Amino acid sequence: MKLKQWSGVISLGLLIALSSCQVRQENTIDAKVKQLLAQMTLEEKIGQMTQISIQVVSKTRGTVDQKHEIDHEKLVEAITKYHVGSILNVWDVAHSPEYWQELIIQIQNIAIKDTRLGIPVIYGIDAIHGANYTLGATIFPQNIAMAATWNPELVRRSAAITAREVRACGIPWNFNPVLGVGRQPLWPRLFETFGEDVFLVSVLGEEYIKGLQGTDLSVSDRVAGCAKHYLGDSFPFSGKDRTPAWIPERMLRELFVPPYRAAVNAGVATIMANSSEINGIPVHSSYFLLTELLRGELGFKGFVVSDWNDINNLYRREKVAGSQKEAVKMAVMAGIDMSMVPYDYSFYELLLELVNEGSVPLARIDEAVSRILRVKFQLGLFKNPYPESHAIQLIASAEAQALNRQAAAEAITLLKNRNHILPLAKNRKVFVTGPTANALSVLNGGWTIVWQGNEEALYPSEKLTILEAIQVKIGKDKTSYTPGVAFDIVLNILQAVQMAQNADVAIICIGEPAYCETPGNIDNLTMTKAQLELVKAISTTGVPIVLVLAEGRPRIISEIVDLADAILMAYLPGLEGGPAIADVLFGDVNPGGKLPISYPQYPNSLMTYDHKTSEIVDVNDYDVQWSFGFGMSYTTFDYANLRLDTTVYNPDSEIRISVDVTNSGDRSGLEVVQLYISDKVASVTPPVKRLKGFQKIYLEPGQIRTVDFMLTPLDLEFVGRENTRITEPGEFAVEIGGLTRNFILE
Ligand code: BGC
Repeated sequence: MKLKQWSGVISLGLLIALSSCQVRQENTIDAKVKQLLAQMTLEEKIGQMTQISIQVVSKTRGTVDQKHEIDHEKLVEAITKYHVGSILNVWDVAHSPEYWQELIIQIQNIAIKDTRLGIPVIYGIDAIHGANYTLGATIFPQNIAMAATWNPELVRRSAAITAREVRACGIPWNFNPVLGVGRQPLWPRLFETFGEDVFLVSVLGEEYIKGLQGTDLSVSDRVAGCAKHYLGDSFPFSGKDRTPAWIPERMLRELFVPPYRAAVNAGVATIMANSSEINGIPVHSSYFLLTELLRGELGFKGFVVSDWNDINNLYRREKVAGSQKEAVKMAVMAGIDMSMVPYDYSFYELLLELVNEGSVPLARIDEAVSRILRVKFQLGLFKNPYPESHAIQLIASAEAQALNRQAAAEAITLLKNRNHILPLAKNRKVFVTGPTANALSVLNGGWTIVWQGNEEALYPSEKLTILEAIQVKIGKDKTSYTPGVAFDIVLNILQAVQMAQNADVAIICIGEPAYCETPGNIDNLTMTKAQLELVKAISTTGVPIVLVLAEGRPRIISEIVDLADAILMAYLPGLEGGPAIADVLFGDVNPGGKLPISYPQYPNSLMTYDHKTSEIVDVNDYDVQWSFGFGMSYTTFDYANLRLDTTVYNPDSEIRISVDVTNSGDRSGLEVVQLYISDKVASVTPPVKRLKGFQKIYLEPGQIRTVDFMLTPLDLEFVGRENTRITEPGEFAVEIGGLTRNFILE
């Protein structure tokens, strides 16, 4: 046997050994859960289903001038009287890792030592793009920017670092990833998604979960993930957060379910329900979504946590329950296992009443509690619920910072480069302006240090803004700066114009202030007037303009696109964003990011790339500013010789596709080779094309690489008229890099 074959046999053997070991571990956990459950009182069980905010057990909030302080008596009451199983968040600002450890030790001491059964508490935070709420942690680009890297390995490695830094604080649970497919650009949480395409979101979501959870949750640098917000969060009709979505079942299954299927298959430990409603049914009350689909069809085994106050909201906001008690019954019977209550013990008290009167069966409580305990066992919390003090040293390691810088650099997407104005020579005199030029919060967005990410003063002083990074790169003497405008307020445009006149190039940094969730709602996707005015005014000088966009969603800039010579989309690139942007501007990095969304040109034409043919006939068009998948480079890539192994396939075939890519420019660079499939005729109107594969490659100048893809007929599936996944025989086209080939599926 050849060495390669031997290694195949050995790795297969290892895989079998590993999975049988996992099965054994699962069986032991199930037995332990059963044993523990049998000893628990009803009160203890319902307590496990209760999650409260840290505020409930705090004396003082953490502010810039005030240290957060736990109210020990209240904490004891929460854990010993109400038996709460989980606590979340901060009140209001980030803690040092040392304080986090103190806090967790204090909580677990009570849970372990002062209760009958010693069940550990599971603490959770929103480490959306790094260990948020932790001072000094690595804060990566937001997911929308990570998606622009089209680099699954980078996503996995960044999630692993997040897990390490979160767990180092003693926190074993991260409410991430957001798996909503970002198809509503107004939505203020678009930046938390991996973009508009279901395939890209599924691939990157799965990698994120693998990075976060690893293969064994009990390892001291892993945390439980929480895929959210199941389901339909990312498609609110109005674009406002937590407002109704109208999604027919076919579309739901086609576009919004697959990332959750991938997450469940990857073993995601928990799922959070969507705050809002789909087709008039609040998700927190939907037995179909939470039980039939999620458990029955997708096979999810972990536990489902509600979103913030959302059981109560079935009564208070959604008006499908006539009382808070009815809301509790509705949500628990629909399939919510843990309530993020979060401010009081109402859920605990009402659920206790409901079970005692026989309105909620004990079996349902046992089911929910078993799922929660199972995750606690998987996390190893029963063996050791305490943080490891030395783990703090792992936070913001050199490796983490380097990966963060790489992620930011790979995300940055070059959208325009007239006459190759970029990269800029380092001896140019540069004028920098705009509201995103000299702040860190605007590069990081929500879920950074504080909930809204907008406390500029709390950002680490050693991290560089765009302006500072440019100054470091080319020298302060060659850089001038004035903000010109705040986001929607004109400050000193006239002065900006004068200063631009004395420079060789104006770098205008525009975008959005930090926000997240409902406070980020907008009524107009167009870039604010003041920012547009700034660009227009500077354009009158004739000085070349480089626009840098730092924004969580694609604010429309069609009025100023022609005025700019170059445009860089930086998204929300995280704490290393400033240096990464400077690297790209001055050519130390060749940009390779590709848009994970369609960048709209008009506010009332918000189309995705995978639209239907009827949307582009006659006067209709996919008339976006830049299309999904677009992004330029300082070099050029040529595609040739797209080929299939045959032209007719049967349902058992593998479809082998190859293409040759050449770096035809004079710089090395990264390219994302994107494979799209079009179904020529189908029983449900087919989208014009859909992404079915991608590979990121690195090519030296002149280098040619053959890129191979392997699809199966399953990749040609769609959700048919009966709302089930089907493949239909017929003609298909494959498209890569502008080349197409047709084939037949028999
Ligand atoms: C958000 C969730 C988050 C939770 C806890 C909610 O308002 O919708 O995404 O995990 O708060 O902070």
